[in-house]
Amino acid sequence: MTIQNLNEATSVTTTAETACCGSECCGGNRTSHITLQEVAPVTIHEVVQQRYGAIASGQSASCCSDDCCNDTSQQVALYETAMLANLPVDVTGLSLGCGDPVSIAELKMGETVLDLGSGGGIDCFLAAERVGSTGYVIGVDMTLAMLEKANANKAKMGVNNVEFRRGNIETLPVVDNSVDVVMSNCVINLSPDKPAVFAGAFRVLKPGGRISISDIVTEGDFTSELRADMSKWAECVTGAIDTEIYTGMMRAAGFTQIAIVDKTVAEKIVAPQAGMPRIYSARITAIKPA
Ligand SMILES: C[S@@+](CC[C@H](N)C(=O)[O-])C[C@H]1O[C@@H](n2cnc3c(N)ncnc32)[C@H](O)[C@@H]1O
Repeated sequence: MTIQNLNEATSVTTTAETACCGSECCGGNRTSHITLQEVAPVTIHEVVQQRYGAIASGQSASCCSDDCCNDTSQQVALYETAMLANLPVDVTGLSLGCGDPVSIAELKMGETVLDLGSGGGIDCFLAAERVGSTGYVIGVDMTLAMLEKANANKAKMGVNNVEFRRGNIETLPVVDNSVDVVMSNCVINLSPDKPAVFAGAFRVLKPGGRISISDIVTEGDFTSELRADMSKWAECVTGAIDTEIYTGMMRAAGFTQIAIVDKTVAEKIVAPQAGMPRIYSARITAIKPA
């Protein structure tokens, strides 16, 4: 789908201007990194849901980018092998992330955790083990077929401290100041309104709470032609933004102690192509001040 197709979706274009990353909203002096004036957020949500709905219902075998992720062994290699010992293949086989946000979250017994874009639930189930029966894990995802998979996995595993909620990560169905840790694995790059995602994550965290993210980020920008390629957006490629812009948005939302824990070239996840910036898989942590 191209920007021309998107422009035909006139009913949704009115909200597009708020989903920018110009100098007005990113707290920096860099401009034009994700100018979405012509790209409708609702349409991006639709394209993303189509892709992940098809994956969840088995109509598509790949995960993030078609270029590289057909091999589930590559996906589960994101985690230390021992971490996955208690998870059934139905969970590990639907691992669609680009890193491991759970390990860096340093979860403790009794904590409440929120996973943005929980997919088949792999990080929720890993978190549930760590927070124990006195803790609680909420996964939010907008794709119905993905939620059905996650709930089927939950029933199969007999886990009762995990709940999956349907919703958009831009308008989280979670009460203010209620969560100890927000985590997310390869999802925020898919959002057409990243400042809203960070503002929502900040809102739901308790004071002193923390955020742990694995995500695709760039150094530099895509050409506008590539940026408008919605199929690549849904593959976790062209929705990705420059690391400095990304962390600038986190800072603008109120986060402090923002740290890039690691950042590795993501050529195995996203095949390089002319017009693309360097693409990385990064793990990022930050704190909501107490
Ligand atoms: C690349 S998959 C990652 C899934 C999971 N985090 C994992 O590591 O396996 C992206 C997931 O995020 C969901 N998603 C993408 N954009 C979303 C949004 N704006 N709101 C809610 N869910 C979203 C998709 O439905 C999909 O399940």
